[in-house]
Amino acid sequence: MGVDLSVEVGRIRMKNPVTVGSGTFGFGREMADFYDLSQLGAITVKGTSLEPWQGNDYPRTVETPSGMLNAIGLQNDGIDSLINEKMPFLRQYDVPVIVNVVGHSLEEYIEVASRLDKVEGIAGLEINVSCPNVKEGCMVFGTTPQGTAEVVRGVRAATGLTLITKLSPNVTDIVSIAQAAVDAGSDALSLINTLMGTAIDPWARKFRLANVTGGLSGPAVKPVALRMVYEVARSVDVPVIGMGGIMTAGDAIEFIVAGASAIAVGTANFVNPMAAVEIIDGIEEYLTKMGFASVDDIVGTVS
Ligand SMILES: Cc1cc2nc3c(=O)[nH]c(=O)nc-3n(C[C@H](O)[C@H](O)[C@H](O)COP(=O)(O)O)c2cc1C
Repeated sequence: MGVDLSVEVGRIRMKNPVTVGSGTFGFGREMADFYDLSQLGAITVKGTSLEPWQGNDYPRTVETPSGMLNAIGLQNDGIDSLINEKMPFLRQYDVPVIVNVVGHSLEEYIEVASRLDKVEGIAGLEINVSCPNVKEGCMVFGTTPQGTAEVVRGVRAATGLTLITKLSPNVTDIVSIAQAAVDAGSDALSLINTLMGTAIDPWARKFRLANVTGGLSGPAVKPVALRMVYEVARSVDVPVIGMGGIMTAGDAIEFIVAGASAIAVGTANFVNPMAAVEIIDGIEEYLTKMGFASVDDIVGTVS
């Protein structure tokens, strides 16, 4: 008999514990050329706002040792395009869709959430209070327990969908923010978003990003992400989606034994478009070899 890869995140039933990091998978269209998207446990789409956002000036990405910095600034086509163009495409697949929600203001988060509430095919909302690359909203809320609670409470009242709050690592006490999100009604948490950094060209003596700062992701952030997932998962009683530098099934299992019920593959998608499905296969192989019956058997079992 095969192992049971399925997991539950709030009311989202995932056939395996692997989703993708918001913003690293677009809205699925480009990745559908590589594999059947129904293989994923869930698809998490790019941050979506009420109106289209232009994003920041170029250059917006730079490669760094074992990672990358991005300052996309949440460029997206807005909620109408998500509902009318992106969702009909994604509904072809047998996979829950999680929409990453962003806003410049509390009212914007609430309006986006209430408009997505009854859209067919959307299983959950990931409230992005942790994007470091926009000047108003977003991380401004997510760096304090009060700000986080305010957004989660507002969105909670606007929708019955499963709510996942995406936490910022750019704080000193992530556990207090995690707790505030749960107390305000978040069904699950996801972490980490990117770590703020910068890069400079020494010859030109210029910043490499037009925005000056950007968010660091990739293998370089994994030890920080793993520590935060461990600390948060042991302190709250809701499921955690772990992410930050996951490149292989071994990395994914580290996050799961640290306490994550599910994981997201982010920057790895740019390096190897097949990364997420290879990680699903690798998790299955690991559980089989180790004699475990299900993913749940190893969640939070590190000692
Ligand atoms: C190019 C790029 C765009 C991103 N856009 C978003 C976004 O729209 N919303 C969000 O919550 N996180 C966004 N992220 C953060 C990722 O979803 C993820 O939390 C982070 O990159 C850490 O995981 P990784 O190291 O596996 O990439 C983005 C990351 C990258 C690299």
